[in-house]
Order: sequence, then C-alpha cells, then structure tokens
Amino acid sequence: MNKIKNTLFSNKPVTINENSLIMAIESSCDETACAIVKGGREVISNVVASQIKIHEEYGGVIPEIAAREHLEAVNVVIDEAYKQAGVKGNQIDAFAGTVGPGLVGCLLVGLNAAKSLALAFDKPFIGINHLNAHLAANFIDTDLEPPFIALLVSGGHTQIIKVNSYSDMQIIGETIDDAVGEAYDKVARLIGLPYPGGPKLDKLAQEGNPFAFKLPEAKVGEYDFSFSGLKTAALRLVKSFEGKDLPLNDICASFQETVSATLYKKVKHALEETGYNQVVLAGGVAANSEIRKKIFSLSELGYKVFAPQMKYCTDNASMVASAAFFFENTFDNIDVEVFSRVR
Ligand code: KG4
Ligand code: ZN
Repeated sequence: MNKIKNTLFSNKPVTINENSLIMAIESSCDETACAIVKGGREVISNVVASQIKIHEEYGGVIPEIAAREHLEAVNVVIDEAYKQAGVKGNQIDAFAGTVGPGLVGCLLVGLNAAKSLALAFDKPFIGINHLNAHLAANFIDTDLEPPFIALLVSGGHTQIIKVNSYSDMQIIGETIDDAVGEAYDKVARLIGLPYPGGPKLDKLAQEGNPFAFKLPEAKVGEYDFSFSGLKTAALRLVKSFEGKDLPLNDICASFQETVSATLYKKVKHALEETGYNQVVLAGGVAANSEIRKKIFSLSELGYKVFAPQMKYCTDNASMVASAAFFFENTFDNIDVEVFSRVR
C-alpha cells in the first residue's frame, strides 16, 4: 500500500509505504501518548503517561488539570518514544496527531506538538479522528483489511460501524444516551468503586453470578443502544439492599451480562444483515472480559473476529499512527483545528 503525502514546509511529495515510520501523539483525554509505528502494523515504540492517579482524587477527569498534565508530559513521552525506538526525528516519515473528538485543551497540546514536529522536520502532517484510531488498533500485528463490522465501545462512544474500505465507513447504529464505558463508570461509582470504575466492575463481575438479577434491556432502533434505563435499574437494585449486605459481585455480573448480551445481539444482527464475515472490537471497553468473550464466540459461527491487544484498547498513540497509515479520511492541513464532538 503506497500513499503520497506532501511535506508541510516545502510541499514535497513523500511516499508512505510498508517501510515508513509514522510517529503519532495522542492527548484527547487523560493519557499523554507517543508511538512510532512501521508500515501501520509494527509498533517500534509505544509510550503512555497515564493521569489516572491524578484524576482518581476527583472521581473523574478535570479538563483543566488534564491539559496542564499533558503539557508537562508531552515532551517526555516524545523523547522516550525516540529512545525506545532508537531513531531520531529526521528518520520519521510523517507525524500524526489526534484532532478530535476529545477535550479541547487536551487535544491542543498533542496536536500542536505533532504539527510542530512535522514543520520542523519538513515531513507530512496527518490529523486523525480518535474513533478511527480506536478501530485502527486492530491493524496492529494482524492482517486485517476491510470490509468489516466494528463495535466501538469507549468512555464516550458506542457505535456499530460498517467499514467498507479504508476511505468509506458508515455508522449504522449508536447509543441514544450513555456510552457503555460511561454506564460502567457511573454504576461503578454508585457502588463505591474508585475512578475509572469500568475495569474494577469487570473484575468483581467475574466473581459473581451473571443470572442472579434480571436487569432490563432497552428497546431501541435495530442497531442502536440505550444504557440509561439499565443504569437506573442498577441504582434501584443497589438501593433495595439498603441496610443489608450488598451482593456486589452478583450485581456487577448481572449488569455485565445485560450489557454484553445486548452488544453481542446487535453485532450478530449487523453481520447477518450486511453479509460481512469479519468483526472487530474497539475502544477502551474492548478490554472488558465478558464483551471480549461474547464477541470472540462469533468465531464459532464462522466469523473472523479481531480485538486489540489489551495495551492498545485504551487510549494510546500506536493506534493513531496505524490510522494515519491506513485510513484515507484524515485531516492533513496544518490549519486543522481540534474538535470536541463527533463529526
Ligand atoms: O477508549 P478509552 O480509553 O477512552 C475514551 O476514548 O473514552 O475508554 C475508557 C473507558 C472508561 O470508561 C473505562 O472505564 C472503560 O473504558 N474500560 C472498561 C474496561 N476497561 C476500560 N469498561 C469495562 N470493562 C473494562 N475491563
Ligand atoms: Zn479513546
């Protein structure tokens, strides 16, 4: 696969191919990350500075604090990515950065760093949509090529996407209220688990009975989702145990079962309707044990199933570099501005 991109300063054409090194920077939320990826699939270095410890105190991400932390960390992660890869700036063929969606003050730090590097080394700049980056995590160390159906589940988004080619994708379903990760974090908070609650709730769920409590599944459009009713039902269930011992593991397991069964059902339906035979799981919640298990069980029905390695599920820059290599719908203009919501 060859792509021609122009350098920023002198506007010279550069061919991006299997041997090209792309450096990417990601700073959309609470991770400052830098990575160098060869040919879109081979990670040469992957550095992530997490702010979880800082935001834990507040029970969530405080945008202003996050932006300041990104400023502190961005040069450190860039230096570390060069060091781990054993390469210098002038050996990089293109620089990529996350444009959005995300927290504006946070995105600005990483995006401007990527633009500055591209200008300084006179190399192409490639601006990336964060959601496409999550999908691209599935290209790392695999032979995945479109077409495929993607289930994107993160802290901010829940979508079923029909990826027809590297340049053509359609969102065929999405949540009408809370994202899956958001629902996990809210229910986790309700039962007293520290931020981010998703992974902790997942752990407790693995110790519980998934059929202990029947929680409601929302009735919405064919491929759409709604998790706010489920969240309220979980809240009511917790309240019903006031003054008694809370069967925490069983509540978590029942919540996890309801969420994962809904996701599974809708993805299976999308595969059947489109006739696509490949499915990929993406986004931070792709790390969830039961969602992985159910989606991987689709392989028993003959589908080829992909899910990123754990370290590439939550925010990282390798997936951004991979998206820059494979996808066509990128933002390559030096003037591109960060955006907070999906476009
Ligand atoms: O993709 P991501 O790193 O950030 C966004 O772009 O939103 O996703 C973070 C979300 C958080 O809501 C976190 O609680 C959730 O992913 N998460 C999980 C698990 N690991 C991360 N949720 C459920 N089970 C997990 N194992
Ligand atoms: Zn993300």
